[in-house]
Amino acid sequence: LTNSAGDHIVLTQRVADAHLLPGVTTQIWGYDGIFPGPIIRARRGRPLTVTMRNQLPVPTSTHLHGGIVPADSDGFPLDLITPAGYSPAPPVQHGTGARVHEVSRDYRYPMDQRAGLLWYHDHRMDFTAPQVWRGLAGMMIVSDDEEDALPLPRGDRELPLLICDRAFEADGSLRYPLRDMAMHHPGADGDFLSGIFGDVILVNGAAWPRHEVANVRYRLRLVNGSNARRYRLGLSPGTDLIQIGTDDGLLAAPVMHREIVLSPGERCDVLVDFSAYPIGSEVTLTNTLGTGPAAEIMRFAVTRSATDDTRVPPKLADVPVLERSEAVEVRQFDFRFGAGRWQINNQPYDPAGSVAAPRLGTVELWRFTSDFHHPVHVHLGHFQVLSRNGRDPDPWEGGWKDTVDVRPYEAVEVLVKFAGYRGRYMLHCHNLEHEDMAMMANFDVV
Ligand code: C2O
Ligand code: CU
Ligand code: CU
Repeated sequence: LTNSAGDHIVLTQRVADAHLLPGVTTQIWGYDGIFPGPIIRARRGRPLTVTMRNQLPVPTSTHLHGGIVPADSDGFPLDLITPAGYSPAPPVQHGTGARVHEVSRDYRYPMDQRAGLLWYHDHRMDFTAPQVWRGLAGMMIVSDDEEDALPLPRGDRELPLLICDRAFEADGSLRYPLRDMAMHHPGADGDFLSGIFGDVILVNGAAWPRHEVANVRYRLRLVNGSNARRYRLGLSPGTDLIQIGTDDGLLAAPVMHREIVLSPGERCDVLVDFSAYPIGSEVTLTNTLGTGPAAEIMRFAVTRSATDDTRVPPKLADVPVLERSEAVEVRQFDFRFGAGRWQINNQPYDPAGSVAAPRLGTVELWRFTSDFHHPVHVHLGHFQVLSRNGRDPDPWEGGWKDTVDVRPYEAVEVLVKFAGYRGRYMLHCHNLEHEDMAMMANFDVV
């Protein structure tokens, strides 16, 4: 893991050789040539500029997932960085947010937001899924004073972990079964309805890694960076996952779980107390939604004893609870297959269109309905999950979130707070194959 400190960093997207599997080399597209990309350390209140350079053979757009950033740095799918001499130049429809930057551009992140684990990834129109699959994803850790004051595990006892599945050819190259735009044509190789799955689980770019730990508390900060795979995380032998945070920062108070479901795009922040295990034991982070090799994510080997000066604070953070009565508008978004593609409210993505105009500073109730598993993600606006089919949300989805796992035939209500900036943002399914197949829509914060 690489750490970059400071208020201005440069990232270069380039082709590189990586060692994801033992004994073979895999060509990836990586930020700074690594997968995941460098971990960016940011601090609340300290604006960060990322100069992004594109040395790949294709255009890119980078989105900071969970970031509260101005629209022109949000990674709009047609706000592209093109490689040197790229032709034909992508079309620019004026007034849509479409732009073309040759070779490099700056993204400006104000970091006027609370501590949390964000992630950045490619967001190019129609090609997000294959470009992320090839390696264009990384994590950002935002810290602040509120979190610093807590007695949580730090240093090498705090592990940011990006989990994803990938498939490989025998020679080690990545296998993405739907080649490029082939995904738009039903009948292409692969199951275009469910999205693309791999049979290898990678954690921070290593297949089923084994990590040595002491018999103390660790903080695992998990991102589901998979294109389509959902995980139900647990430990074997079993002990509690002590959840302290979710997509966009700390919960008000810790919540104990035996299992937590994480759909693509979602994050969770958990403490694991390895003092529950004898020295010499191995603990598996399991995925009970997976079968065969996908049922296991990584192992922790408890190899040594150490003193633990951390605690599980009964109170973690101030998290105001939004009330249904605060919503000034109710909107419904139906995520459903129709006309041969994945759509929202029966419309395929229209980069020039806009489906809602929430007012800056207000709260709206958004109701997501579905025919399938759709991890619904909203840019800019963080939300709280209000209900799931009229009942309480799942126990792990308290606090501030930006992605919610909408399951088949569910209606999920969320209260979205539009704080930050006016401009054009989007909501979409974070199953990246669904996103590329048009399950996306713009909205304008006014
Ligand atoms: Cu993580 Cu619009 O995406
Ligand atoms: Cu996002
Ligand atoms: Cu979907």
